[in-house]
Amino acid sequence: MTLDAESFRVEAGMPDSATPFYPVRARHDPADDFICCDPAMVAVLQRARQAAESGASVLISGESGTGKEVIARHIHNASGRAKGPFIALNCAAIPDHLLESELFGHERGAFSGAIGRRIGKLEAADGGTILLDEISEMDLRLQAKLLRAVQEREVDRVGGQRPMKVDIRIIATTNKDLQSEVKKQTFREDLFFRLNVIPLHIPSLRHRPDDIPELARYFLRKYDSRSAPRFRSFSDASMIAMRAYHWPGNVRELENAVNRAIVLATENEIRGQCLDLFPPDGAGTRPVPAVAGQAVAAAGRPLWQIERDAIIDTLIMTGGNRTRAAEVLDISIRCLRNKLQLYASQGFTPPGPASRTD
Ligand SMILES: Nc1ncnc2c1ncn2[C@@H]1O[C@H](COP(=O)(O)OP(=O)(O)OP(=O)(O)O)[C@@H](O)[C@H]1O
Ligand SMILES: [Mg+2]
Repeated sequence: MTLDAESFRVEAGMPDSATPFYPVRARHDPADDFICCDPAMVAVLQRARQAAESGASVLISGESGTGKEVIARHIHNASGRAKGPFIALNCAAIPDHLLESELFGHERGAFSGAIGRRIGKLEAADGGTILLDEISEMDLRLQAKLLRAVQEREVDRVGGQRPMKVDIRIIATTNKDLQSEVKKQTFREDLFFRLNVIPLHIPSLRHRPDDIPELARYFLRKYDSRSAPRFRSFSDASMIAMRAYHWPGNVRELENAVNRAIVLATENEIRGQCLDLFPPDGAGTRPVPAVAGQAVAAAGRPLWQIERDAIIDTLIMTGGNRTRAAEVLDISIRCLRNKLQLYASQGFTPPGPASRTD
């Protein structure tokens, strides 16, 4: 399937090419849904589309769980190779001595245990795309063999007589800084340059906060529809908490948190505590980010009001835990208590562990 620029736009429900992308879906494969709203991610997607149109190798970097494989599939689906195979191979998951035959295949009798001929992943990807996941984990000897395959577009089966021509697009991913691996001489520089024709860096989820609500709603629909659908929405406080959390496990962690919340929630609305985002040591918290919507809401309002709202929102975010709220706000617990007394005297009931609403 080829998704050209216009098909992408039509599928995304975008009226014209001046409008940024919103949820983009590949037509035939529901597992290929790709959610993208934040400007940082929209820029990556646009670059990925340009990459898709060329046959060039792509090196995708980013923390674990950011969506490297998802974007690799998108490049494949948006390319002229979409009707061909998409083959993924995780270089970290396979022991070195098996990886060569996994990649290149082998002839019968090539080594003890090679009871029949086996086609390798590079050959299986002929006419399509091969995804080499966690490429930094490949040993140097195999890197040399891969370099030859990339340069010549030829595959040498283990124990084979002559190389086979293959027509493949190579996408590699890494969650390490491959350039520093080159400096450490654990990754070949020539292979790095061959793979890094189009570099794509996927930002961490905490650096693209506008993706969080859309992804959360997407996962809610995805997991809720697996059984009898029960949940319609997230509470405002749970949305604040999700935007404020720093998501060390990125989109995968968000997906798991929403899935868990669907299991734990007892009402139609998903509330903050079901998301279970705050480990006891508070390591998972960070200050409420200056996301676009909040920055606009803050502008033109009295400072005391913005301060009061920030304090109350943070208390909601921490489930009423004042010590943690003071830490997040970077004020003393005494200062927080004084502020809360003031709000109480003005008729506000600040959320606390006993009175919390979420
Ligand atoms: N933009 C997105 N839209 C929808 N789902 C996404 C998106 N990004 C990631 N996901 C989902 O998050 C999970 C992790 O994504 P993926 O496997 O692509 O991450 P990764 O960067 O390859 O992680 P790792 O480095 O651990 O291999 C998957 O279940 C994937 O479907
Ligand atoms: Mg991956």
